[in-house]
Amino acid sequence: MSEQAIGVFDSGLGGLTAVKELTKVLPGENIVYFGDTARVPYGNRSSKTIRRYARQDAEFLLSKGVKLIIAACGTVSSVATELSETLPVPFTGVVKPTAEAARLSTHNGKIGIIGTSATVSSGSYKKAILSMDDRLTVFQQDCPLFVSLVENGFIRADDAIVQLVVQRYLAPLKEAGIDTLILGCTHFPIIAEAISAYLGDRVQLIDSGSETALFAASLLKKHGLLNQSGTIGSCSYYVSDTVDSFRKTAEIFLGRSVEGEVSHINIEQVAVQ
Ligand code: DGL
Repeated sequence: MSEQAIGVFDSGLGGLTAVKELTKVLPGENIVYFGDTARVPYGNRSSKTIRRYARQDAEFLLSKGVKLIIAACGTVSSVATELSETLPVPFTGVVKPTAEAARLSTHNGKIGIIGTSATVSSGSYKKAILSMDDRLTVFQQDCPLFVSLVENGFIRADDAIVQLVVQRYLAPLKEAGIDTLILGCTHFPIIAEAISAYLGDRVQLIDSGSETALFAASLLKKHGLLNQSGTIGSCSYYVSDTVDSFRKTAEIFLGRSVEGEVSHINIEQVAVQ
């Protein structure tokens, strides 16, 4: 069991923020990643559609024999909250680990949350933070264009288009005086440099992908599922759209080649009840 892979999924490239951290903290683990690049973005779809997609994505990972599933997607974690109940393996979404990290990070009690429209309107992070400490103040902002920027490879902090969109969305949060910002969509850490350049060093960014990877590592330990084989783990990536565009941006973000590790699948063929 322990040599089985960790399954990670997202609507596209965003979940790579969790993969990057997982390979750092658990280099011996095998990882199977699914990015639903043919159906991205999830964040402006109905709850019913997001739930169906999430079930198909998880089912695909189960077909690969994974021992744990990470929904490395703020939208799925916020909307398809029933997913964990249907799975035969341990599961985590991104909301709780990220909210906890933000609560621990803030000094002035003002936390900003950015995510997709579905995530922000679900109020998931806000509820999680306030249930931990109701004295905190949270400010929410949906940033749907960030997902498109990332999926299309606009990720550099010196890109004028990236800077303009960042400024347009984040001005109210800057004005509100937050000292901590939850990057509540896993795509957003990919443009963290641009976000940080605009908000300044005094605002701590909380990366939902990496916080969740750290939490997943503790889950594996708790369930006695760590890979004890002593070898370096491998990664296999699956996408539902073209391999090439995913590969290019993935390589920039991960800082290494994924040549030969990315395959295409037809996610619509995965049956769910
Ligand atoms: N990366 C995802 C999230 O964390 C999804 C973005 C989208 O597909 O809209 O919300």
